Amino acid sequence: MLLGKAVRHEWPLDWDFLSVNHGSFGAAPRVVLAAQREWQQRLEVQPGRFMRAILPQALRHAASRLGAFIGADGKDVVFVENATTGCNAVLRSLRLAPDDEIVVLSHGYGAVRNTVRFVTERAGARMVEAAIPFPHPDADTVVANIVAALTPRTRLAVIDHITSGSALVLPLQRIVAACHAAGVPVLVDGAHGPAQVPLDMRALDVDWYTGNCHKWLCAPKGAAFLYTRPDRQDDLHPTTISHGFGKSYLEEFDWTGTRDPSAWLATDVAIDFHRRLGGEAMMARNIALAAEATSLLARRLNTEPGATGAMAGSMGMVRLPLTGAATAERSTELRARLLAAGTDAPTHVHSNAIWLRLSAAAYNDIEDYERLAELVARVLR
Ligand SMILES: Cc1ncc(COP(=O)(O)O)c(C=O)c1O
Repeated sequence: MLLGKAVRHEWPLDWDFLSVNHGSFGAAPRVVLAAQREWQQRLEVQPGRFMRAILPQALRHAASRLGAFIGADGKDVVFVENATTGCNAVLRSLRLAPDDEIVVLSHGYGAVRNTVRFVTERAGARMVEAAIPFPHPDADTVVANIVAALTPRTRLAVIDHITSGSALVLPLQRIVAACHAAGVPVLVDGAHGPAQVPLDMRALDVDWYTGNCHKWLCAPKGAAFLYTRPDRQDDLHPTTISHGFGKSYLEEFDWTGTRDPSAWLATDVAIDFHRRLGGEAMMARNIALAAEATSLLARRLNTEPGATGAMAGSMGMVRLPLTGAATAERSTELRARLLAAGTDAPTHVHSNAIWLRLSAAAYNDIEDYERLAELVARVLR
């Protein structure tokens, strides 16, 4: 499997800049961008015919390909713009009563926590937080803390598959089973899931899973999906209500108004590209590279990694060797200094410390993290 420098020509990235943050916004390779442009061309030469006679089937074809990639039937998969939108659709379709509860994680993504706040505050319901231990989390404590947060009033648990600011791969199968055993449905915020780890919706038996294709699958920006188990499709609506209202899950989501669907239609080329680079073997290689990179940085900075083993994916956390208050302002300032120094690795505050997050994508290799260690040491000096 030839990766790292050997495949860099596939992306239009600026290689003078140190790209070690694939997790934030992904990066689309040339072949995927070309496919997207081709769809835009087809649309613009005959917009009326394209929207009515080509798009409906093309969209369903793309959903079937994506369904096969995530272990789902295409008819249960709809495209959305991003994971935030997917979570909004589920959360804003709920009919909450006063005192109902929605469980979120202490490491839950800010935008999604805001959506939970929005829907609970409007209904006089409550957002309840389950604590994720960090650093050195363990799966048993994660599951136990989530179970402890469930009550007879819990209407939904919103679970991040891979947390954003702490890069933890949570034991999803166990969490879903535990929530279901308590009679609680689960919405998985899988923004980082697709193509970072293998997915199988049928085996997971989850109620809803939303995932980004524009991160690890390298699809164009604005390509994401919402999977809904068949028995959860009634009374689920996109945040934009349009012509399909009340007709069916697919009719509601497949048309939410005039838009450019090219990012969605190019996802099957992204799936082919992912396979060509190695598919599951590449995902395993990226996870191993992230582990190697994380311990390299921890050694160089004389600190510690946030997580190792089964809860670490193709992103890693390293504590920065700082004294004094670990404030959000200080973290933001460090991040800006790292950007100015030539790298996009983000920083996050956890447990009274500032942590650096790194990503290991197909185009990265271990020398990138040698360079990152030097840049970080220079910025901290
Ligand atoms: C866990 C999680 N949820 C949601 C998002 C939001 O993704 P998007 O901006 O594509 O909606 C992210 C982005 O990094 C994330 O990490």
